Amino acid sequence: MINHGFEENKHLLDGKKLFLVCRGSFDRLDIAEYINSLEPVRFSGFTPNPKMEEAAAGVEAFRESGCDTILAVGGGSPIDVAKCIKHYSGTDAPLIAIPTTSGTGSESTHFAVIYENGKKLSVAAPELLPDIVILEPSTLKNVPEYTRKATMLDALCHAIESHWARKATPESKAFAEQAITLLLKNKDAYIANNEEGNAGMMEAANLAGKAINISTTTAAHAMCYKITSLYGFQHGHAAAICLAEVWKHIDAAPGITREEFVSILNELGMKYPVSEDKEKDVEMLAGSVNVQRLSNSPVPFDKDQLADMYRNIVRQK
Ligand SMILES: [Fe+2]
Repeated sequence: MINHGFEENKHLLDGKKLFLVCRGSFDRLDIAEYINSLEPVRFSGFTPNPKMEEAAAGVEAFRESGCDTILAVGGGSPIDVAKCIKHYSGTDAPLIAIPTTSGTGSESTHFAVIYENGKKLSVAAPELLPDIVILEPSTLKNVPEYTRKATMLDALCHAIESHWARKATPESKAFAEQAITLLLKNKDAYIANNEEGNAGMMEAANLAGKAINISTTTAAHAMCYKITSLYGFQHGHAAAICLAEVWKHIDAAPGITREEFVSILNELGMKYPVSEDKEKDVEMLAGSVNVQRLSNSPVPFDKDQLADMYRNIVRQK
């Protein structure tokens, strides 16, 4: 259930023993004061690309806490950690999500990303879909510039990839189209950190999340993970530069053209990775993609094609 506005919906938290999954930046949010007044048990023991052992520590802390509700407040990582805590503890405690970035759409999906021994693992189960979502645009006020751009691009990639995904349905396509329209309409105001723009972008990212909840993502997402770890790029930034390349091979009309997409990347000043040894990196990157996971893409790619695409993405120093 999606609820708009924290003030109007904070009563949904009342009377619950909350297990709060959040990062240290939580206390800077306007909504923190009220949530803190409910005396939640707080869990912040995880890193930006959360690891399985961190989620396991979260499961233990949750069991010891005696809490009856899991509340995730944050970007993709806290929400994914909260989902894993719910999943691996086998609890039927409700999961409430309050996203504080407008990118992942994780609040509206039934999957989570977690890293085990350095490998990305996708956990998917119906109970991972949060029971209650509260969208509060004021949480976007303090998002730093680079994260602001990268998360918007993540949402845009979700919507575009969802639209052309083989698993797309009429319902997911409708969500994706609405997301793209709303995102493009609010892009400039959101980048300027304008209140209305933030509200529109939060809605757009959520719609894109609903779209990938049905269709999942495609090649650009499969290709982006190693770029984030190798060059320290944020997820949405990495996905977007991969998408610009993938799109050369895909004939699709998701409501935005490749040219328009590339011009947004240029306008935002998104950089490309620079390597000391480009060929070595290209080989490593191409080897990192699970080719089977590309089956949701509208066109198939083999290892050689992946390497060619990475060759166009990575610049030699
Ligand atoms: Fe993403």
